[in-house]
Amino acid sequence: MITLALSKGRIFDDALPLLSAAGIRVLDDPDTTRKLILTTNQPEVQVVLVRPTDVPTYVQYGGADLGITGLDTLLEHGMDWGGTGASAAGSTGLYQPLDLQIAKCRISVAVREGFDYAAAVRQGARLSVATKYVGIAREFFASKGVHVDLIKLYGSMELAPLTGLADAIVDLVSTGNTLRANHLVEVEHIMDISARLVVNQAALKLKREPLRRIIDAFDGAKP
Ligand code: PRP
Repeated sequence: MITLALSKGRIFDDALPLLSAAGIRVLDDPDTTRKLILTTNQPEVQVVLVRPTDVPTYVQYGGADLGITGLDTLLEHGMDWGGTGASAAGSTGLYQPLDLQIAKCRISVAVREGFDYAAAVRQGARLSVATKYVGIAREFFASKGVHVDLIKLYGSMELAPLTGLADAIVDLVSTGNTLRANHLVEVEHIMDISARLVVNQAALKLKREPLRRIIDAFDGAKP
């Protein structure tokens, strides 16, 4: 059996054409079913639905053979393990063979309209920054020599500058609509993000042929 870990939403939707190129059709609709293990047209392939931040953990410990997750999640996961960047993600038993070029967005710093971010940074003020991406934010501000107090949040980051919880946020930006709707402006572009394929290293040895077939099909079909 080959088990693929996916999360509902944009990554799932964007992954469907890649799955289809590998001849895999998911038979359950993730939006309506309560099932967490979805069957596919291939009896030897199943999809498990997990939270985006849990995809690396499932693949790392072999709960899934492979998974699709954002670079943001992967970097943050690597940092939880004491390292930084893609190399740390690599050192946790995850093989990262492909940038799938789907679910593209960016991680940015944003502040309230009218907040003088440049002046605050210039004056060496201590910024408070709310984010779900504590590791990425810490590394980014440290590299700029900006002192920050990081506040960990799990969602609705945009609220933080509006309520006075923080001066700035570090969050994903795709269309920019969420920032605009909440009167926030992007002041720094930290990095571009896209979804990555991650594979369990042991599974790649034990189930080499079927996994290679899927990896190659994804590679050939990515936008
Ligand atoms: C992300 C992010 C922003 C939004 C940006 O949230 O946290 O809120 O998308 O997209 P936009 O620039 O196109 O408006 P997501 O919907 O992934 O959910 P989350 O709040 O659980 O992270």
